[in-house]
Amino acid sequence: MASLIVILYLLLMPYVKCVPRKYYNYTLLSATPINDKQLNFFKNLTLSYDVNFWRPPGQVNKTIELVVSPEHKKAFMNDAKQSGVYLITVMKDVQSVFDMQTVKTYIRRKMGLFDWRSYFKTNDIYKWLQDLSNNHPQEVHLESIGKTHENRDIMAVRIVLGQDKYFYRSRVIIEGGIHAREWISPAFVTYMMQQIVQSPTSNNSILKEIAQAYEWYFVPLLNPDGYEITHTSDRLWRKNSRGVDLNRNFEIAFGSVDVSSNPLADTYSGKNAFSERESAAMATYVRSKSDRLDFYLAFHSYGQHMIIPYAYSRQHRENFDEVYQMGKKAAIRIADKYGTEYTVGTAYETVGYLTSGVSGCWVKRTFKVPYVITFELRDQGYYGFALPAKEILPTCEETMEGVLSLLSTKYKREGNPLPKSGQGYNLLNTLVTIWNIILFILTRED
Ligand SMILES: *[C@@H]1O[C@H](CO)[C@@H](O)[C@H](O)[C@H]1NC(C)=O
Ligand SMILES: *[C@@H]1O[C@H](CO)[C@@H](O)[C@H](O)[C@H]1NC(C)=O
Ligand SMILES: *[C@@H]1O[C@H](CO)[C@@H](O)[C@H](O)[C@H]1NC(C)=O
Ligand SMILES: *[C@@H]1O[C@H](CO)[C@@H](O)[C@H](O)[C@H]1NC(C)=O
Repeated sequence: MASLIVILYLLLMPYVKCVPRKYYNYTLLSATPINDKQLNFFKNLTLSYDVNFWRPPGQVNKTIELVVSPEHKKAFMNDAKQSGVYLITVMKDVQSVFDMQTVKTYIRRKMGLFDWRSYFKTNDIYKWLQDLSNNHPQEVHLESIGKTHENRDIMAVRIVLGQDKYFYRSRVIIEGGIHAREWISPAFVTYMMQQIVQSPTSNNSILKEIAQAYEWYFVPLLNPDGYEITHTSDRLWRKNSRGVDLNRNFEIAFGSVDVSSNPLADTYSGKNAFSERESAAMATYVRSKSDRLDFYLAFHSYGQHMIIPYAYSRQHRENFDEVYQMGKKAAIRIADKYGTEYTVGTAYETVGYLTSGVSGCWVKRTFKVPYVITFELRDQGYYGFALPAKEILPTCEETMEGVLSLLSTKYKREGNPLPKSGQGYNLLNTLVTIWNIILFILTRED
């Protein structure tokens, strides 16, 4: 009997891969465990039922969201009742909401088509990147920083405006699309690139100034294989094509807290740190730009949080307080736009769980980068990963306000054009400081 199943499985396997998985009549449920017994009920769940966590269980009183299949729903609801868990139905048919996330096709040299009013597949994003760099050859430099397992390029974009204006500037790295199903992430990062490139013609003076003040490095889609899977075969895919959660695969407290060593789990960390081409390529790229690197911002969804390192610890470490204050200011700017509310804190304080192998944590620790923040974009758990296309643009606009706020806190036009940096201090920097002191002494007479 067992061997028959194996044979059937092997025979059907190639076909199973081609048939897209659909989530018709899958239910999105939310619950807030109010004691350890209820929390454990959720933590022990994945092996007994076909459930997919959108917001995994972390602590008592932190809301959990999960999707359950129609086949398992009844038994699951019964079990939950037994444990005293109160469940709320958020969506009755997850697939029908995914179906409303319109995906458009991009046509070369028609940049107006890429308008943040729909989502785009990997190839279309790449074509748009190509057009962006073709249209701005002086400012935009496009390169591949490595190949994925399925032989896709991992693209990076360097943007520097007004080259001769400042002698040298701090660097910012923006990471998007590490988790495949978080579609709003690459959407925002492409929007941000467009905003920076178009800033000279913008009437937003803060944007203009900030765009010129830094050297920008964007990796809008770090996990193109996974992203393609979410478009063609499984909308809920999170990992890379080899089944590794890339944001658990960096060499920081690797495999130690709240990750899974089960290759089937959504948070499988891989066999060892940097076992994956995507994370290894990113590490090499960041290392090559680590001089004068002041900001590393990573974009995820969802929950509306700004998460400050370190994700594996409950403690506030290093310059947490300073970054927290910057985050709070940025949150006010975001709320000013459309009323969207963000929380700021460690992973434990925001999403509610500890975890390890996270890209930003590795960057901060390894290169002493002062300002590292992981964003969880919209929403707070209504649509979740099924964020409708009409929310893309407002999400991008408000997030841009927050990002500009973060970047302007540390940028001072007067005097030293360099933001305070944890590293990259050199002779020139010292000379600039001395010159400023001399100027200060000379001009204080009156
Ligand atoms: C979903 O459920 C409805 C009613 O329960 C049923 O009529 C429909 O056939 C189901 N759809 C799929 C794709 O299973
Ligand atoms: C969950 O698992 C833990 C440890 O594996 C066990 O102690 C606990 O009783 C389980 N809880 C439930 C509700 O099954
Ligand atoms: C959870 O919330 C309830 C009600 O607000 C409160 O009484 C309880 O102390 C909280 N428990 C924890 C562990 O925070
Ligand atoms: C300039 O700013 C105004 C008001 O702030 C706005 O309505 C207008 O669309 C902006 N123009 C451009 C070209 O961005």
